[in-house]
Amino acid sequence: MAVTREQVHEALSRVIDPELRKPVTELDMVRDVRIDGGQVEITIALTVAGCPLRASFQDQVSEHVATLPGVESVSLDFDVMSPDEKAALSAKLRGGVSERTKGISLDKGTRVLAVASGKGGVGKSTLTANLAAAFSSLGQRTGVLDADVYGHSIPHMLGVQQRPVVVDKMIVPPVRDELKLMSIGFFLDENGPIMWRGPMLHRALEQFLSDVHWGELDVLIVDMPPGTGDVAISLGQLLPRAEAIVVTTPQPAAQEVAVRAGLMARKTNMRLIGVVENMAGEVFGSGGGERLAEELDIPLLGSIRLDPALREHADEGEPLVWAEPDSPTTHELLRIAQTIDETKREQGVGIVKELHVLS
Ligand SMILES: Nc1ncnc2c1ncn2[C@@H]1O[C@H](COP(=O)(O)OP(=O)(O)OP(=O)(O)O)[C@@H](O)[C@H]1O
Ligand SMILES: [Mg+2]
Repeated sequence: MAVTREQVHEALSRVIDPELRKPVTELDMVRDVRIDGGQVEITIALTVAGCPLRASFQDQVSEHVATLPGVESVSLDFDVMSPDEKAALSAKLRGGVSERTKGISLDKGTRVLAVASGKGGVGKSTLTANLAAAFSSLGQRTGVLDADVYGHSIPHMLGVQQRPVVVDKMIVPPVRDELKLMSIGFFLDENGPIMWRGPMLHRALEQFLSDVHWGELDVLIVDMPPGTGDVAISLGQLLPRAEAIVVTTPQPAAQEVAVRAGLMARKTNMRLIGVVENMAGEVFGSGGGERLAEELDIPLLGSIRLDPALREHADEGEPLVWAEPDSPTTHELLRIAQTIDETKREQGVGIVKELHVLS
């Protein structure tokens, strides 16, 4: 029995675009299916030429089509969508709305967690990357927004080399395993850093945030620029319903700056959910996180020890949470993610106050 067109289409509905997370049939990417006895030839139209995800399509087509009864061989060709097709796809992904809306495009159910600090170098990006990995490990659909226009180290820490795909002005975040990542850093070379400063800043950020297509997410973790400057304030205003986590190192001086970041978060209407102390241990001591939490009257979510493995794995593009799932630091990071997750369900933070602090 030769395979039918319907069977091939049905099999193709199980081939998922890794970034857009929808079947190629639904995305109108199947350009052609030719069946000649046991030979099947398929053409898929990609959003960009030289798309780095070709191998994934190839694997999925082999898995789903080549295994159909009656199929002897499958060949897969790629084509590129025309501008009209891209516009149609973009409209479809936006739910039929062809005009772009202002502000960040997120589902109502998506939780936005802003990781903030009073100053640079306290481990904000490291925590963002690892908390994202932790949420993803807890089974949540997780996105990371690297919004630190001064730093943008997150793509490197997560080992993401591919650039975002742009479909008719819609920016599609690259994926790493189940994580979606968008970084302002991806656009710094093309546009120059100018638009991310000064009077253009707010509009540039607004435009950027509305152009990114996140799809369905449970949580979006944002690496905020350090301190209380223009960028941090603009972003604070553009992220709806954001909840802020303030990172501090244990020293008293670090705490004072962190207080300012905390108050800034409050001013921009973010709900402060807690403090994470980072780099605790012999060198910097500990207790700064606890004092800051007291001062801001929010819970201490946890304390991460100074742990060289955090830096080593980040340098290699692998968050510690994934690289060493059994390390004590990973356990503390997972515990923090869980605590944050529970504050949502409890609609409050009271329970967190009882948690003991490691280190
Ligand atoms: N708990 C930790 N133990 C050991 N090293 C750490 C820890 N946290 C962060 N680091 C290292 O400290 C350095 C600064 O961390 P990171 O880049 O995450 O900080 P940041 O606050 O994002 O800094 P920036 O302001 O430059 O963006 C990095 O080399 C990182 O690997
Ligand atoms: Mg950083």
